[in-house]
Amino acid sequence: MKPQFAPGAAGQAVYTPAVLALYDAWVLGVSNRWIWKCPTSRLLEHYDRHVSDHHLDVGVGTGYYLDKCRFPSAKPRITLLDLNASSLRVASRRIARFQPKVHQANVLEPLTIADSPFDSIGLMYVLHCLPGTMADKQAALAHLQAHLAPDGTLFGATILPGGAPSSRVARWLMARYNRRGIFANLDDSPASLRAALETHFTAVTVEMVGCVAIFAARRARSDSLTCSQPIA
Ligand SMILES: C[S@@+](CC[C@H](N)C(=O)[O-])C[C@H]1O[C@@H](n2cnc3c(N)ncnc32)[C@H](O)[C@@H]1O
Repeated sequence: MKPQFAPGAAGQAVYTPAVLALYDAWVLGVSNRWIWKCPTSRLLEHYDRHVSDHHLDVGVGTGYYLDKCRFPSAKPRITLLDLNASSLRVASRRIARFQPKVHQANVLEPLTIADSPFDSIGLMYVLHCLPGTMADKQAALAHLQAHLAPDGTLFGATILPGGAPSSRVARWLMARYNRRGIFANLDDSPASLRAALETHFTAVTVEMVGCVAIFAARRARSDSLTCSQPIA
């Protein structure tokens, strides 16, 4: 019998301490470069470009990007948000030098977060874990938008089916992860991702690198109503 989880909980249940111990080697070391064809160095570059000194990281995993990225100053204020207590424990220990605040919550539910609003919000490899269609996943974007400063940037990446011509191994692994509830992305596409982001933000970029959509979005301002402006 399939396990029953609260909405949004299945995609985080896999991140046990044992899985987290292998995550950097398997996902960041092997899968990104060789299966999804988007090296982790490219994702770190994206992170470096958008991370600020007042940052909320959502879906923290092992905290790799927080550990490796270049913050604008030596003393960034960081909040970690995840539904999974093991992810929060591993990531907060890894970046203990920054004394991060920790918030256990489901991004699909309305959020009350101390220290809000943030100048940057990172959403790396979370959307493909969330259940439903991109229209359902928009709830997460709506909840996070409420915690982004007017000039802040929400940025991230998500694995999509049918981006670049994907290998047989990529299609097999994606199907397997979807069957196991680790991913829920078979209905996601670059167009539906862009549409979801543009529902909540006026300046949106989406770039495909292999099977990975790398995105950034800035909040609508009353004096700026242009859609789809690339972010400089
Ligand atoms: C694939 S890992 C990504 C880790 C890291 N951001 C990275 O890119 O290496 C997904 C993370 O999102 C968290 N997560 C999944 N669904 C969530 C939800 N509904 N609310 C909050 N966190 C969630 C998981 O617990 C896990 O830590």
